[in-house]
Amino acid sequence: MSVRKHRIAAIPGDGIGKEVVAAGLEVLEASAARDGGFAVETEHFDWGSERYKRDGAFLPEDGVDRLRTFDAILFGAVGAPDVPDHVTLWGLRLAICQTLDQYANVRPTRILPGITSPLRNVGAADLDWVIVRENSEGEYAGQGGRTHRGLPEEVATDVAIHTRAGITRIMRFAFGLARSRPRKLLTVVTKSNAQRHGMVLWDEVAKEVSAEFPEVTWDKMLVDAMTVRMVVNPGSLDTIVATNLHADILSDLAAALAGSIGIAPTANLNPERRTPSMFEPIHGSAFDITGKGIANPIGTFWSTVMMLDHLGEKDAAARLMVAIERVTADPALHTPDLGGKATTRDVTDAVLAAIRGRNA
Ligand code: IPM
Ligand code: MG
Repeated sequence: MSVRKHRIAAIPGDGIGKEVVAAGLEVLEASAARDGGFAVETEHFDWGSERYKRDGAFLPEDGVDRLRTFDAILFGAVGAPDVPDHVTLWGLRLAICQTLDQYANVRPTRILPGITSPLRNVGAADLDWVIVRENSEGEYAGQGGRTHRGLPEEVATDVAIHTRAGITRIMRFAFGLARSRPRKLLTVVTKSNAQRHGMVLWDEVAKEVSAEFPEVTWDKMLVDAMTVRMVVNPGSLDTIVATNLHADILSDLAAALAGSIGIAPTANLNPERRTPSMFEPIHGSAFDITGKGIANPIGTFWSTVMMLDHLGEKDAAARLMVAIERVTADPALHTPDLGGKATTRDVTDAVLAAIRGRNA
């Protein structure tokens, strides 16, 4: 029997990124060993803020091109207390996402077993969402500038770019994802009352694309009203699509409503598979807990599930998700972000045991 091989680029980055990516790779290896049908070959890249402070760049000039030969990327976090956040973001994460055209950012949110939502009377059955974030343009397009620095007439602009091509492809992706889920329900989020150009184009393109997906029921929400609906009527939502910035904000709210940002995963996808996709936990580098061994690795493990799924390893993905849910169900295996006392090691060992278990 020939064994499928997947080449993975690991970019742990900064802070707890190093700790959770190390744990994620252990779990990935164990998943491959348990499955037997595939193997992973990993290459490590020490890109991040340390490198920036030493060499003046987060990654080498040909860095992103080197990534092109991989099947997927596992990313940790980037951010350091002594480097401005916009420098780290544009220096590494956006440099990869935008250059590799990973235009669909996918953020599933569920209340996992054993986890309590801060919302009263809301359980697992009431909150099962996937947020699709446009990941290549919008408010993160990077256009704008500053002139007359330091003078009273100083001016700064950030121009949001919304293109018909960019909106159409993210809409097709979101409608397709909604159709693949049992409820076939999509909510399109904009702010087309106030932002009367780009957001109105979003509404128009959503309507056009909806004609290609007659099975999908869809509605529109303004982003401010959407925050209310997420809190007071979470069960009315399923798949959600929004701009880069709106979905950034809504996905933090979603992660908090599902119990902890330490759990939430992300996939940065190039759906056409012209380039490798990148998988990462939503939490950042978390310098307050770096080196303490208490980072929650579940966000990385769930991101690894998404990676396995993307690589076509559906059985291994499903098995890892079952293992994760078995572990979160036990409060003795909760890290401090969930109010527990477990360490990254404890949680990792428990997930490894569950993967290797006979009936996993
Ligand atoms: C996210 C993060 C990033 C973003 C930060 C770290 C710049 O909040 O992935 O949601 O805004 O894209
Ligand atoms: Mg965010």
